[in-house]
Amino acid sequence: MIQVFKPNMGQEEIEAVAEVLKSGWIGLGPKTVEFEKRFTEYIGVDYTVGVNSATSALDLALKLLHINYGHEVIVPTMTFVSTAHVVAYNLATPIFTDVDPATLSIDIEDVKRKINVRTKAIIPVHYSGRPVDMDSLKEVAGDIPIIEDAAHACGGEYKGKKCGSLGDIGCFSFHAVKNLAMGDGGALTLNDKAIAERAKRLRWLGIDKGTWDRSDYDRKYWWEYFVDEIGLKCHMNDIMAAIGLVQLSKLDRMNARRKEIARKYSEAFKNTDWIETPPEDDSDYKSSWHIYCIKVERRNDLSVYLQENGIATGVHYKPIHLYPCYGNKPFLPVAERLFQKILSLPMYPGMSDKDVEKIIGTVVSFKGKKT
Ligand SMILES: Cc1ncc(COP(=O)(O)O)c(C=O)c1O
Repeated sequence: MIQVFKPNMGQEEIEAVAEVLKSGWIGLGPKTVEFEKRFTEYIGVDYTVGVNSATSALDLALKLLHINYGHEVIVPTMTFVSTAHVVAYNLATPIFTDVDPATLSIDIEDVKRKINVRTKAIIPVHYSGRPVDMDSLKEVAGDIPIIEDAAHACGGEYKGKKCGSLGDIGCFSFHAVKNLAMGDGGALTLNDKAIAERAKRLRWLGIDKGTWDRSDYDRKYWWEYFVDEIGLKCHMNDIMAAIGLVQLSKLDRMNARRKEIARKYSEAFKNTDWIETPPEDDSDYKSSWHIYCIKVERRNDLSVYLQENGIATGVHYKPIHLYPCYGNKPFLPVAERLFQKILSLPMYPGMSDKDVEKIIGTVVSFKGKKT
């Protein structure tokens, strides 16, 4: 079976983990600090705060912006539930927007319609790794802070700048099958020193000195720490960070392979009139190609046909405003219509050309098939 996603782990990651295990320090420590430093340079921001998932990063981002009861946060509906769950965690209300029919990212006109005095943040998702049109979004947002959900977009670029450096706070996922994977993991990226320092406290229960700082600097009263504010327990650890450092060194190479696979798909489907392919990269928009999503009329039949031929697929996503947990549902016509058509084909850097050819051949051979 060809999987939809697959982690790309090798000997280097195994050795990096072994080194940490032998070091005697596997919690939050020097590897996490090193990962944060390298990731900060890679993304082109001033600070990175390592956490245990993008869900935690998004949750913390809202806390850092003091989002609370009575506030509204605008989120696109075509996303993973984390993007909206975190709003509820903070007792605020997620306001769902429709999506752009070509990119499946947040519909900026709909954002404009939904902004009001209660709107305290906007969370665009760089869906599939393709950056959102951030200039237009910023124009509409004005002073309202923008938290980028960059879970798909590690390495993606908008007008020469990395996703995660485009809004007020960037949130990344290093979950098992993300472009940069650690098993689980996440990060916030930002430029404000005071907010970064608060994020470092809040990821560790509100304690104002990390274990590592204590062991390194504060020899006299090593037991002393301060807790002025109640935080979460969601920090990164050195096992995750060690894997992340290796993955970061391979990220551009892995993303280049993703792009190559995307090009092969798009080229092969160019003359197949029943398949709509995703928008291609250009000088302003460079996707990290986390997901390759096509649109077809008989999506369910095609996915079953591919499954029967040893090819797994996915649907990213069922529009999340349709889930009963969010209460009253708005009508979001584009997302609801396209949900019936979208299908994610296998996409991971370790996929062989032979597998790519098999997927292309099987998809193309579906036309006219009755299931
Ligand atoms: C768009 C989006 N946001 C947030 C998340 C949450 O990431 P994590 O699993 O690291 O919490 C995901 C995970 O798949 C995602 O796809």
